[in-house]
Amino acid sequence: MSIVYLNGKFLPADQALVPVLDRGFIFGDGVYEVIPVYHGRLFRLEEHLRRLQDSMDGIRLHNPHTVAEWSALLTELVQRNGGGDLSLYLHITRGVAERDHAMPPGIAPTVYAMCNTLKAPPAQQLQAGIAAITVPDIRWQYCHIKAIALLPNILLRQQAVDRGAMEAILIRDGEMTEGAASNIFVVHNDVIATPPKGQHLLPGITRDLIVELAQTHGLVCEQRRIREAELATADELWLTSSTKEILPITRLNDAPVGTGNPGKQWRRIYEIYQQFKRDLADTPS
Ligand code: PDD
Repeated sequence: MSIVYLNGKFLPADQALVPVLDRGFIFGDGVYEVIPVYHGRLFRLEEHLRRLQDSMDGIRLHNPHTVAEWSALLTELVQRNGGGDLSLYLHITRGVAERDHAMPPGIAPTVYAMCNTLKAPPAQQLQAGIAAITVPDIRWQYCHIKAIALLPNILLRQQAVDRGAMEAILIRDGEMTEGAASNIFVVHNDVIATPPKGQHLLPGITRDLIVELAQTHGLVCEQRRIREAELATADELWLTSSTKEILPITRLNDAPVGTGNPGKQWRRIYEIYQQFKRDLADTPS
């Protein structure tokens, strides 16, 4: 049985109970983070905690912990779950109160965290790539907030699954924003590009690291608006997220992307990313 964290206590998952009046349950009123753990160490923790703070500020929720407190409690949770490679899910809601849309003053937030096994992408996905479709971005105007209310994302992702694809790439006003649960990169003539940060996409931690690694390794990587039409002419498309790392998208709307195989820029950045993880594992904490 895995051990979870709930409001100051570490306990077996089946003993962690939240009242039905929790605003997370009633309204989806909360924010979350997904943090990868490699070799028992939280990856890019500072960046995830900074984004968490931004999400909390975005929904006017007071952060109950300092960075040092978060770091200590999440590290303890990882240790209690045996370390290794994990995906840590952290969920904070506005707390428990009588149902009323307006924010109730003076209630304590609900803080929940759990660890799941982090499965490396299957070799088949790395060798052959994955399929995606494009769909209209039906979400709201605050997609930079990592909100727990994910119904639009669920509906969008399911459309992809229904069409035999793994991800839905979202189009708003003729431009690509991101995936239903990932950021997207395009490559044309070796130039890598991803949309700039803004209210229409989540500022992915993996995205930021890839931009940083591409730049430090001399690859040209632009942050610019990407028109929908550019997807069909791309040599390569990639999907990035904390749980999937960097996956090559080799089929878009049932047509091959570029040659239909993972591209050379993907191979380079994938190897750079793996090396970055290995270097970190070798660094004393
Ligand atoms: N999702 N965009 C959206 C809408 C996402 O849900 C995610 C990640 C990303 C990538 O962000 P990051 O690189 O920080 O993981 C972009 C997580 C993994 C999830 O909901 O499970």
